[in-house]
Amino acid sequence: MSIILHIDSSVRAAKNPNPDHDSISKNIARRFIDSWKRNRPEDEYIYRDVGVNPPDFITQDWIGAVFTPEEKRTPAQRERLALSDKLIAEVAKADVILISSPMYNYGMPAQLKAWFDQIVRIDKTFDFDLSRGDYPLQPLLSGKTLIVVTSSGEFGFEKGGIREQSGHLAPHLRTLSKYLGADTMYEIAAEYQEFGDERHHASVTNAKKQAESIALELSDSKPAPSFNREIGHV
Ligand SMILES: Cc1cc2nc3c(=O)[nH]c(=O)nc-3n(C[C@H](O)[C@H](O)[C@H](O)COP(=O)(O)O)c2cc1C
Repeated sequence: MSIILHIDSSVRAAKNPNPDHDSISKNIARRFIDSWKRNRPEDEYIYRDVGVNPPDFITQDWIGAVFTPEEKRTPAQRERLALSDKLIAEVAKADVILISSPMYNYGMPAQLKAWFDQIVRIDKTFDFDLSRGDYPLQPLLSGKTLIVVTSSGEFGFEKGGIREQSGHLAPHLRTLSKYLGADTMYEIAAEYQEFGDERHHASVTNAKKQAESIALELSDSKPAPSFNREIGHV
């Protein structure tokens, strides 16, 4: 059995009374999950919609609690870190992580950033050692597959594209992927939403096809038991 963690982050619902308002990224991610579940209904599935239920922003107290040795934390500090502990445990146990994200102001939504801020945490998802020289941070998790689904109103954010310099969403997710323990990353992008033309329809259709084929490929090839899960640090 594998464990899939699915994080959606658009503030829009997947289904609305007016379908023009449906979240594109959520519906592409849903296509991935539906295909996966058809192939492997026995797998554990964990779902969070951080767009609709955003995690708390971190605070100075939160940082204080993180840097207090575990055995010295007060009950209030433990409580302060409870959500972070829970979110990290979900990441740590997952074999496959699916993140869907709209592009807001050329990057990820604040809600998804809030989720990452709760997860990327010292001695949980990375450790820090100055003896490593210029690269003191080292991720602690590994062996996971990450699938990222993005949707944008404009287009051309890819390498060589007309808006490459403004595309901060996928590059940011690539940078953060190692703190989730992702060794392999797939990217699916739907574009042109603001144009609403044939290019948009083709882009969404293609993204859904990609989601389906990646789900089928991965769900066929995943070994039954979870592999290489480093839960010792959580
Ligand atoms: C607050 C906000 C900011 C946005 N900023 C951008 C942007 O910087 N670049 C872009 O290409 N599209 C932008 N868009 C368009 C969205 O990326 C597009 O509508 C996308 O489909 C939203 O994802 P969703 O359909 O899953 O909700 C923005 C939309 C909103 C609501």
